[in-house]
Parts: sequence; structure tokens; C-alpha cells
Amino acid sequence: MRNFLMKFSAIVSLLISTCLSLQAEAPQSKKYESFRPGEVWLDGSGVPINAHGGGILFHEGRYYWFGEHKIEGEAGNLAQVGVHCYSSADLYNWRDEGIALKVSENPRSDIAKGCILERPKVIYCAKTKSFVMWFHLELGQNYSSARSGVAVAKNITGPYRFIESKRINAGFWPMNVFGRFKEPLRPEEKEYLSGIKMYGGPVDGYPLDMIYRRDFFDGQMARDMTLFVDDDGTAYHIYSSEENGTLHIAQLSDDYLSHTGFWVRTFPGKFNEAPAIFKKDGKYYLFSSGCTGWAPNAARLAVADSLTGEWTELGNPCRGTDEEKSLTFRSQSTYVLPVVGKPGTFIFMADRWNPKNAIDGRYVWLPVLFDEEGAPYLEWQDEWKY
Ligand code: DGJ
Repeated sequence: MRNFLMKFSAIVSLLISTCLSLQAEAPQSKKYESFRPGEVWLDGSGVPINAHGGGILFHEGRYYWFGEHKIEGEAGNLAQVGVHCYSSADLYNWRDEGIALKVSENPRSDIAKGCILERPKVIYCAKTKSFVMWFHLELGQNYSSARSGVAVAKNITGPYRFIESKRINAGFWPMNVFGRFKEPLRPEEKEYLSGIKMYGGPVDGYPLDMIYRRDFFDGQMARDMTLFVDDDGTAYHIYSSEENGTLHIAQLSDDYLSHTGFWVRTFPGKFNEAPAIFKKDGKYYLFSSGCTGWAPNAARLAVADSLTGEWTELGNPCRGTDEEKSLTFRSQSTYVLPVVGKPGTFIFMADRWNPKNAIDGRYVWLPVLFDEEGAPYLEWQDEWKY
């Protein structure tokens, strides 16, 4: 019996040590030294990075990437988990920092599990020493509420505390409209609008100057969005509004938690989504896309001397084959990242959505290139370094 027990315990300890050594040999962080747009991108634990429609904040020597955590299948197009955060010192290798903002288990919460929570962006407010996250929020499972959500944290990686969701700038007229364009809808205009079925893309008869007037009292619609902090610390919220037909650029308050009422309309009736802004040599550049749901379309680029306009359209910034140009390398912009310590170096970040299996959406990061006149453009790269 004693012999048997000794043999048994030897076998058990052999099994345990084999398991431990296997674990030690399990592939740890893959060390990346370049970007490979569109390929599966693993985090430091060997798990595909899950941060879609995201943006990046540089803080105290590290980059922090925030994006939508998606799950498998079509259910992954709804927010089942929340906003995922990763951090990196070199932009190639990312450490999983966990879920920064969790959806709520309370079905009555604005951010209840199963809502639509998209394109989160985080900025740092020096005045309040806090991190502020804004995102596009739909209360249910369709795109009719067109609200913006805001959350705040003292630690960059979270947990973020959800504050509220709302329509934007109720009771404020845009700064770049005048006279009769600053009046609520007349009855015949209301009737005209009620006869048009809008679905988030271009429609016949889209009225260029009615929807923001309709929404004057309840606040402006806001769907695809980004944030931009200018050199003087003023933050702006840029979003697709007016049934996606018109972009709005709206100033945020000093604490970045609300809107000041100062806002402008940009590109009325042009149907831009996926806004992504950067500033170079005193000029502001705005990438965007058209409105074709999850399917890619041709990117657009515009330039301005002031964030609030006038904006000049520069056309499609993509170079390459017809397919690459018409589908933006099968992707849609989400953010433009200035590389810290490398003035003039910017990364165009885009999503290659996969609505049938949302978790397998890919990241297409490309360098922003500049032509002889200084105009930005994009070209496909299989592999590149900044
Ligand atoms: C395109 C937007 O850019 C995405 O963020 C998402 O809202 C899809 N439309 C939904 O169809």
C-alpha cells in the first residue's frame, strides 16, 4: 500500500510539473515590430485585440487605445460588454487593460447590455485631472435615438462612471446660420419632413435646412463621432447629425462633460460618417466616409484653417487600384493618431467591419502620407513601420 501511495504521488507531481512547464512555454506576447493592416493583431496575452471604432490617447509615456468590445456573431454588433482599453509604449505591442466602461446589467440604464454603444473616444481634462469618454449611444437596438453618452474616470484605464446620455445643444442655434435659418420649422415644413423616410443615408428630397431646426428644442442628433482637443485645450465633439446628412462641430465645456452651445454645421446634405481629425502646420484635416452601413465606401478629406470652418473638400485621399480607392482599402476611418516625438507623423486608423461575426472586424492602420503640396493621402501597405 505504502509503495502504491508513493508511486501515485510521484505520478501526480509529474503531471503537475508537466502542466506548469507547458504553461510556462505557452506563447506569451508576440513581439511585433511593424503594422500589418487587416491581419489578426494579438495583444500581449495572445488574444486578438478587441477595440473597434476606437481612438487613442497618449498619457505619461504610454498610448491608450479605447474601442468597442465586440463578441462573436451578429449579436456582437450590439454592446454586450463595453469599452475595452489597451495600452502600449510602441504602438505595435498592446497590453490588455480590461474593460474601461462596462455596459449595465440594469435594463433601465441608458447603457443597458444590448444597447448600441459605438466609437468611444477618451480625452484628458487637465482642469479636472480626469479622463472623459464620449461615445455614440442608441438606447435600444435601432439607430433612432442618436444620442451621445459621457463617462468619466480618475484613472485612465477606468473604471469609467457613466454620467448621462442626451441629444446635443438643445436650444442653441448653430453659429454659421443666419436670419430665417434660425427659426423653428413652420407647419408646412413639418409636413414636408414627415413625408420623407430617412434611414441614415442619402434620400431624395433631403432638406438641407430643416432637420437641425426640427431638433432645436430637443437637441441635435449625434451618431458617428470623434473628439479633438486643440492646442489651447479647447475640446470639440464632431459628429454625424441631421439624420447623418450633416456634420456638426461642437465645442465642449471646460470640464469636457457638456456642450457650450457654440457649434457649426459642416457639409450640409453631404452625408458624412466616421469623422477623424488631425492638425498639421496650423491646418485642420478631416477624414470621413459616406453612409453605407457596415459596408465600406470611398473616403473623403477636407481641410480648414479653423476647426469651425470654412472647410474645403479635397476629395478622395486614397491612391491605388479602383477598388482600393472606392472602398478605402475595405475600411472606414475612426481616428487619426499623431505619433508622439515624431512631428508630422500621423496614423490613419480605420475599421474593416465584419457585421456577420463582429469580433473578427480588423484594424487597418496606414501612414498619412503628404504630397509635394503638403496634401495628405493614403496608400496601401502590407507591412510598415512609423
Ligand atoms: C457605419 C458607422 O460608421 C458605424 O459606426 C456603425 O454605426 C454602422 N454604420 C452601423 O451600420
